[in-house]
Amino acid sequence: MVILGAGPAGLVLGNLLLSAGIDCVVLERATPAHVRTRARAGFLAANTVRILERHGLADGLRRHGRTHGTCEFRTGDGRFRLDYGALGGGELHTVYPQQHLVSDLLTRFQDGGGRVRFGTEAVGVLGAPSGPPSVTVREADGRPGRWRARYVAGCDGRHGAARRSLPPGTVRHHRDHGVSWLGLLAEAPPSLDAVGYAVHERGFAGHMARTPEVTRYYLQCARGTSPDAWPEDRIWAELDLRMRAEEYGPLHRGPIVERGVVDHVSDVVEPLRHGSLFLAGDAASVISPSAAKGANLAVLEAELLARALTDELVHGDGEGLARYSARCLTHIWRAQEFSQWMLRLLHGPPAADGETMFHNALRRTRMESLRTSRTRQDWFAENYVGV
Ligand code: APR
Repeated sequence: MVILGAGPAGLVLGNLLLSAGIDCVVLERATPAHVRTRARAGFLAANTVRILERHGLADGLRRHGRTHGTCEFRTGDGRFRLDYGALGGGELHTVYPQQHLVSDLLTRFQDGGGRVRFGTEAVGVLGAPSGPPSVTVREADGRPGRWRARYVAGCDGRHGAARRSLPPGTVRHHRDHGVSWLGLLAEAPPSLDAVGYAVHERGFAGHMARTPEVTRYYLQCARGTSPDAWPEDRIWAELDLRMRAEEYGPLHRGPIVERGVVDHVSDVVEPLRHGSLFLAGDAASVISPSAAKGANLAVLEAELLARALTDELVHGDGEGLARYSARCLTHIWRAQEFSQWMLRLLHGPPAADGETMFHNALRRTRMESLRTSRTRQDWFAENYVGV
């Protein structure tokens, strides 16, 4: 079994296959240091934690993660909090930076005898639709190489080789939501004990805890903005304004240690199986980060794929593999639908849409029903923490 990519999807899959006694190798383009330190998401849904616990992969997050169950919305009409942990299904997030989870998974995999070939870039997957697949690679020293396997799992993200190798006719549902965020990491403690969502006429601003020393902030920005156009003073002034710090209390400031622009797109591949090639994680579907679903979907899909591969390779039962794509797509579309709803709650319409006043009136009404309707709040909580 060859797994492309050592992100959450590839490493959960690798660990589960290793403990089922299935021989596998992970091919990863980057260095170990890069993989262990790349800051990405950080909100793990309750079901994600259950999956990791079920397989003994949750020691780190149990020790260092913190449960979280409140979000706060700030708008021109005031602010309100939702204790989503006490609504809907009563589920909480665990806040644990993704790079710490990836680091735990990598250590566990290698300590258990799992092989990872760092610096090895997959170039293409050949032969998968109709026969045994092979993966062409560029080794760390630049030489070409080839890996053969019974199955290949494409867990190499949205720009990986698995996506580039899909046969003609594969459906790719692509939608550009027309919204961009400047993603920031501040070396500063969280400013509020909740996820903060601020809707402002200048654009959205977001606050998400990561650790007691580091906080993620987001600022909606124009498409094509260069992060260099945002010096620290401008960032803090804009965050203060949009988060309405004068009214609701100051933000804890600290050096901005990372900044990058994220364009919100959805991109779903259908189906997720092409003979002996399976897609999981961002390779299967890209989702707008508005509801923090990406890493959670990756872990869920990796568990489904590991179980199906184990059934086939250990017990000769191919039913799970046959159903893998349809099962994942049910979860993927549900997450896409909720993320799309969050996007439209938090942002004005795309610039090209002339009906700004109409959209803004709908958005305000959406926010108001979330503030006042218990049924709406339960629905929100169930979808916000669930995958
Ligand atoms: N060959 C080998 N490795 C590759 C290649 C390639 N051609 N292309 C990419 N990779 C590696 C990347 O370096 C990365 O380590 O594949 C890995 C993919 O990891 P992620 O991008 O983290 O994707 P995934 O495991 O699917 O996790 C998805 O994490 O933060 C979120 O937005 C992200 O929500 C998404 C989730």
